[in-house]
Amino acid sequence: MLGLRRAFAALLPLPRAGSPPAAAMSTLLISQERYAWLRELGLQEENPGVYNGRWGGRGQVVTTYCPANNEPIASVRQGNLEDYEETVKKAKEAWKVWADIPAPKRGEIVRQIGDALRQKIKVLGSLVSLEMGKIFVEGVGEVQEYVDVCDYAVGLSRMIGGPILPSERPGHALIEQWNPVGLVGVITAFNFPVAVYGWNSAIAMICGNACLWKGAPTTSLVSVAVTKIIAKVLEDNKLPGAICSLVCGGADIGTAMARDERMDLLSFTGSTKVGKQVALMVQERFGECMVTCLWFNFVLVFEDADLNLVIPSALFASVGTAGQRCTTARRLFLHESIHDEVVTKLAKAYAQVRIGDPWDPDTLYGPLHTKEAVKMFLDAVEQAKQQGGSVVCGGKVISRPGNYVEPTIVTGLPHNAPIVHTETFAPILYVLKFKEEEEVFAWNNEVKQGLSSSIFTKDLGRIFRWLGPKGSDCGIVNVNIPTSGAEIGGAFGGEKHTGGGRESGSDSWKLYMRRST
Ligand code: UN1
Repeated sequence: MLGLRRAFAALLPLPRAGSPPAAAMSTLLISQERYAWLRELGLQEENPGVYNGRWGGRGQVVTTYCPANNEPIASVRQGNLEDYEETVKKAKEAWKVWADIPAPKRGEIVRQIGDALRQKIKVLGSLVSLEMGKIFVEGVGEVQEYVDVCDYAVGLSRMIGGPILPSERPGHALIEQWNPVGLVGVITAFNFPVAVYGWNSAIAMICGNACLWKGAPTTSLVSVAVTKIIAKVLEDNKLPGAICSLVCGGADIGTAMARDERMDLLSFTGSTKVGKQVALMVQERFGECMVTCLWFNFVLVFEDADLNLVIPSALFASVGTAGQRCTTARRLFLHESIHDEVVTKLAKAYAQVRIGDPWDPDTLYGPLHTKEAVKMFLDAVEQAKQQGGSVVCGGKVISRPGNYVEPTIVTGLPHNAPIVHTETFAPILYVLKFKEEEEVFAWNNEVKQGLSSSIFTKDLGRIFRWLGPKGSDCGIVNVNIPTSGAEIGGAFGGEKHTGGGRESGSDSWKLYMRRST
């Protein structure tokens, strides 16, 4: 990992905090010599944002900005509704070719995509870091997740299948055969601009589906760069590029995808508010939808917990990716007997977090993605104070270029304070006190969302109660590890307002197929 970081430093010789800003502030970063590496990803000043076998786009031009200094990187010409229409038609045509290819051969194409990503892992990870704002190791880690899910999908391409069941009728066969659904729409969020598309597309592809992707507008360059890598593999294999189509765009394209009957499955990752709108639009047409919405993750720490595990885990879960993972811990429930000790130790650990440019190898904590997120952060801190919370550390904007805020701990709020139940995608951890197992399990489950949760205890009985029917109602239920850092081998997703979707490993592949009995 250290090697990677050094390599990154060499790759991105950017000014450190405190050095004078670039002379030409208004020029795109891509035009500057020290960002020449962006061209290795096939990027230029203005990039077509639609791919369906050919690159194009007749929509609005969006410029994306580096969250660490708010300087413009490059721009993307998004697709308009005509581009969308044309792309759906081409993707449907491409599907006819793709569905005829035997699954293990489709797996071979996905293997090549994984290899192509491996070759570009550092440079693509650097772009993720530059455009999303997460630290370099996390940017590379995200590409690694895509590589891993490709490996997983290759194996799966030789394993998926249904049973032959005993028929009650003599001389009959009762078979469950799995067929691809057809066209899978994938809408992803800014916070994991590579991995979440990878989880969906690698599995959807081996199942025999074509994909149409719309990433977040603020990470459009990542969407274009990833699609260029995939497109080359498809084109080198003389396959229609539209098997993996891309339409960069805003809410108009997202709405078109949700309403479109030709979109056989729609996978959505984003906020609960938009997720609900998408789910309703898809439901309205009896379509299939997998929704994964963000946040509401919890850590429960009992009196017998190993605090040597708790402190780094709580720190990683709440501060990692500057609090912008959907698995970020938002609430930390501490048993009253250890509350003060844990808060003191955690605040000490927070003070040691190295804040800086995401590409600096020493940095552990970078900026928020946008200026709006900074406003949301400040607003939530204010509300927490008004509702009786005490800010133990953080709470302020950091005075330096970019969207930096202090990682923040708030104590003293009741479990049902409105702000504790409000979605804020920023590094604010609400620390709450509890007495009994039963009450804290209930508090864990009382919020509307249910993605990830963690318990810290050595009590085996309690662990099994936590995993069982009256335990955590989240999709991801951890024991003695943080809420974030879910692996691709398991089914990823959550319950209730989190949407119920499952992506990535385990038997999630079934969601990308229809069952013919
Ligand atoms: C997300 O935040 O959208 O659990 C996905 C994790 C990652 C996935 C997070 N592997 O932290």
